[in-house]
Amino acid sequence: MDKINYFPDNLNIQNKRIILRLDLNVPIQQNKISDDTRIALCLPFINKLVEKKAKIIIISHLGRPKGIKDPKFSLLPIYKYLKKSLQTNVFFFMGNFDDEINEKFSHLKEGEIILIENIRYFNEEINNDENFSKKLGSLGDIYINNAFSCSHRKQSSIHNITKFIDKSFAGPLIKKEIEAINLVIKNKKKPITCIIGGSKISTKINVIFSLIEKVDNIIIVGAMANNFFSHENFKIGKSLIEGNTKEIIKKIYKEARENNCEILIPDDCIVGKTFNGDGKIRELDEIQSDEIILDIGPNTIKRIKKKIDESNTVLWNGPAGYFENKNFSKGTISIALAISNNTINKSLISILGGGDTLAAINKYNNELSFTHLSTAGGAFLEYLEGKDLPGLSVLK
Ligand code: 3PG
Repeated sequence: MDKINYFPDNLNIQNKRIILRLDLNVPIQQNKISDDTRIALCLPFINKLVEKKAKIIIISHLGRPKGIKDPKFSLLPIYKYLKKSLQTNVFFFMGNFDDEINEKFSHLKEGEIILIENIRYFNEEINNDENFSKKLGSLGDIYINNAFSCSHRKQSSIHNITKFIDKSFAGPLIKKEIEAINLVIKNKKKPITCIIGGSKISTKINVIFSLIEKVDNIIIVGAMANNFFSHENFKIGKSLIEGNTKEIIKKIYKEARENNCEILIPDDCIVGKTFNGDGKIRELDEIQSDEIILDIGPNTIKRIKKKIDESNTVLWNGPAGYFENKNFSKGTISIALAISNNTINKSLISILGGGDTLAAINKYNNELSFTHLSTAGGAFLEYLEGKDLPGLSVLK
C-alpha cells in the first residue's frame, strides 16, 4: 500500500503560501460555538505554521448549505474564535472566486492568516469542479489536508485541488488519527460491537452494510433507527427519516443473517412534541402522528448496556438522541458511561468518533475514558470499512 505523504517538519515554508484544509465544522447554537473540540485541536499546527512564517489560507466547511450562502452556516463565529486564540493577524474572506482572486489574497504577509468563508457556499466545491479546484489551487504553493474527518468527501478542497498545486501533504492530525485507528484495528478482540447513530442517515446506511462482515453486533440508534422502524411498519410521527432505504435495509438484514451478525434496533423510545420540550416513554407501536422520536427508551438502554458488557471491542459513532436537550440525552450518556466503565474495568477496546459524539460526551461528563476519541464521523466509519478515502488517496 502506498504511504501517505505527511508534512515534513523540516520543510522551509517561510513566505510560502500554505492552503490548509481543516474541519472547523463545529456545533453552533444562536451564533455561539457549543463545542470547540475540533477547532482547539487545530490550533497547535496553525501556530506552528505561523512560527515558521508561512502565509496561511484556511479552508473549511460548516454544515451542508448546499451551495447557498445561508448565514446560518457562516464561519463568522469561528473566525472570531481564531482571532481571539491566535497571536497574529487573521482575516476573513467572504468574496467570490473570480479572476481577481489572486490579487485579493496578495496582501497576506508572513505569519498571517486568511480564513475563507464556508467553502460549501459554492456548489463547485461539492461537485469537485475542475475550474474551481484550479482557482483554489492557484492561491497556494503548498497544500496541507489536516481534516481526517472530511477525507471521505470527493470535493474540491479535499480532492481535485491537489491536481493544481505543486506539493500536497497530510497534516499531523491525520497522522495521529490514522495511527490510533490502525492500532485499534490491529488489536481488536471479538466480540466486536459497532454502535451507529446520529442523523446523517444517507452517509452511514451503506457503511452498515459493509461492516456486517467485520463485526459481531451492530446497534442502530438515533435518527438512523427511524428508517428501521419504518421498515418494520411502525409509525414514527414527525421523526426524521430518509427516503429510499427499504431495499438497503432488506439487504442489511439478509447479509446479517448470512454472516451471523446481530442487528439490534431500539424497542422503546422517548418522544417529544418539540425538540426543546419534555419527553415521554413510548413503545414502538404507541407513537402518535404529532410526536418526534428524540431518544432511546429505558429498555433499549438496558439491552445496549448488556451488549457492551459482553463485548471486547466497541466502535461507536453518532449520538442516540437529541442530546442537546437534557430530556433526550439519557440514551447517549448511558452508552458513553457503559463503554467508559468497561474500558476502565475490563480493558474493553473502545473507539468513538464524530463531531456530535464528541460534543455529547464533552457536554455531560469529562471523567470518561476511551481507547481513542476520533474527530471523524463518516470518515472514521469508512476507514474502518477498509475503504480508500479519496482525500487520502491523493496524498499518497
Ligand atoms: C463531519 O462532521 O463528519 C465532517 O465535518 C464532514 O461533514 P459532512 O458529513 O457534511 O461531509
